Amino acid sequence: MISLKGKNAIVTGATRGIGLEISKVLAENGANVAILDIQLGDGSAIKEVEALGVTCKGYACDVSNPEAVDEVFKQILADFSKVDILVNNAGITRDNLLIRMKQEDFDSVLNVNLRSAFICTKALSSHMMRNRSGRIINMASINGIRCQAGQANYAASKAGIIGLTKSNAMEFAARGVTVNAIAPGFIKTAMTEKLAPEVIAKYKEAIPLKDLGNPRDVANAVAFLASDEAAYITGQVLGVDGGLGA
Ligand SMILES: NC(=O)c1ccc[n+]([C@@H]2O[C@H](COP(=O)([O-])OP(=O)(O)OC[C@H]3O[C@@H](n4cnc5c(N)ncnc54)[C@H](O)[C@@H]3O)[C@@H](O)[C@H]2O)c1
Repeated sequence: MISLKGKNAIVTGATRGIGLEISKVLAENGANVAILDIQLGDGSAIKEVEALGVTCKGYACDVSNPEAVDEVFKQILADFSKVDILVNNAGITRDNLLIRMKQEDFDSVLNVNLRSAFICTKALSSHMMRNRSGRIINMASINGIRCQAGQANYAASKAGIIGLTKSNAMEFAARGVTVNAIAPGFIKTAMTEKLAPEVIAKYKEAIPLKDLGNPRDVANAVAFLASDEAAYITGQVLGVDGGLGA
């Protein structure tokens, strides 16, 4: 059993999908959660997490905008006093073959998936280094390792996340701050609902465990990496992919 009791976490892109599940699993293990998302919707994500008996606050913020992130992080530190865990999860896809990919589709995916992790980590790193402890978990993807046609923007952003993770791990290790990435395979969320049924069937066949994963599979891995039990793990990329990346 891990315990995150008394710890405070920021999770980006957390009003639905994997980010919401991460927030819930962190809360189930005792952590208070600050949910950051470009849209907080009807606030139900915050209520769901709060119902688990922890403090949860929502902050509307475009994580690819450094000024907005600085402003919101100041507010979070005022509200929670200390942040122990940062999960850089927000992400988007704008798939297309390179020949048809618009410049804005390349730029927006790089901005939301990669630039945001740099911005959020930079905004929080001195706080964590001063505390001489912290856990940063970045959401990569199997498609940042084994790439596919039609995802030049997404694959580049996720490969970039892996580089950022390893470099930051080296920089922060002496201060007790660990930085790791998770590389999910195909997980049942709004992102994969966009895929055609025949594409999903093809992936199920190729996945050694013969099914798509659930957001909880990813969230459990995040909770472990966020825990004291993972103190000696840094600079790693953990595949949560049913064996697809093996
Ligand atoms: N679903 C999968 O199969 C899968 C596989 C590998 C990696 N991932 C990664 O996991 C993460 C979560 O994916 P998901 O499937 O839950 O996606 P999702 O689309 O269900 O949720 C993404 C969340 O990010 C938020 N968001 C988007 N742009 C933002 C911005 N600029 N600022 C703040 N928030 C923003 C959205 O509002 C949404 O709540 C992403 O980084 C994704 O690349 C997903």
